Amino acid sequence: MTDKVMHAVQCDSYGGGAAGLKHVEVPIPKPSKGELLLKIEATSINPVDWKIQKGMLRPLFPLKFPWIPTTDVAGEVLDVGPGVKNFKTGDKVVSMLNIFKGGGLSQYAVSSEKLTVSRPPEVSAAEGAGLPVAGLTALQALTYHGGLTLDKTGTTSNILITAASGGVGQYAVQLAKLGNIHVTATCGARNMDLVKTLGADEVLDYKTPQGAKLTSPSDKKYDLVIHCATPIPWSTFEPNLSPKGKVIDITPGPSAFWTAVVKKITCSKKQLVPILLVPKAKNLDYMVGLVKEGKLKTIIDSKHPLNKAEEAWAKSIDGHATGKIIVEP
Ligand SMILES: NC(=O)c1ccc[n+]([C@@H]2O[C@H](COP(=O)([O-])OP(=O)(O)OC[C@H]3O[C@@H](n4cnc5c(N)ncnc54)[C@H](OP(=O)(O)O)[C@@H]3O)[C@@H](O)[C@H]2O)c1
Repeated sequence: MTDKVMHAVQCDSYGGGAAGLKHVEVPIPKPSKGELLLKIEATSINPVDWKIQKGMLRPLFPLKFPWIPTTDVAGEVLDVGPGVKNFKTGDKVVSMLNIFKGGGLSQYAVSSEKLTVSRPPEVSAAEGAGLPVAGLTALQALTYHGGLTLDKTGTTSNILITAASGGVGQYAVQLAKLGNIHVTATCGARNMDLVKTLGADEVLDYKTPQGAKLTSPSDKKYDLVIHCATPIPWSTFEPNLSPKGKVIDITPGPSAFWTAVVKKITCSKKQLVPILLVPKAKNLDYMVGLVKEGKLKTIIDSKHPLNKAEEAWAKSIDGHATGKIIVEP
């Protein structure tokens, strides 16, 4: 490789939003044991990226600066470190970088072989880069926590997915439909048609009184809720749940954690389960396979060049993306 430095976008301290991103030339990283050097073709922004920049996870995981944000990347393997078995130069891949080291808003990054999967030609870099955090969270929420089987053999019949137009929600709707589940979804009025095309059977505009109450238009009770929108009180979920209904909360606030504990210790039949993504390569491989087979798609809100990464960052902070926001070096 002739280039020794790369263009990257980094933060030198906490805070600052889009204005806190700095365009820099830094040395191209070298892959260590078990790592791959990737030429990045696309990266996607997740809300957790700017939440980390804001310092929201600082008490648990303090950042080391300078920090190059984003974890979800698709690209090509340029070099491999010692001990790498499954990839070689020239392979096309999708990878999830370490959440606190980041590295995605850049021309090159090193990824762990353990969270990297092959990307077939049918899956574009942008579609692949959308998958890691959002797709894996949707899959984990539905299957591991929600107990759903995607082979149409499960017992869950009705599910509610909130913020179905967002990065996680769009995948959750499509995956739930693979399991042949009746899906009610919430989103804004402008996205109702799109969410129907993803497979939702009933769609609620979250800004209407019925949407705010989460009541199914056909008065169905939910066996499972995948909650991807901003925090909603338990008293809103509770009347809409079937007798053993479960809320899987991917955006839990303090009161959700409290409710979850109370429901657990009182052996309530209705449960609230706050969750955190535990990324697994086999799940990422499964999702890439679904995209390849045409069973899952990545809705792309917008694509931005790396030299305008702050526009993409500001759009994510704004909270109104429809699908995934992609940055391309
Ligand atoms: N626990 C975990 O491990 C985990 C993993 C991934 C994500 N998350 C969290 O999950 C949340 C969702 O992530 P994301 O990537 O899907 O976010 P996103 O793509 O930024 O979500 C934006 C979408 O949400 C819609 N929306 C906003 N408020 C809504 C409401 N009250 N009801 C219905 N729709 C609403 C917006 O629609 P409008 O434009 O019409 O308002 C927009 O289309 C974030 O807070 C993220 O940090 C947690």
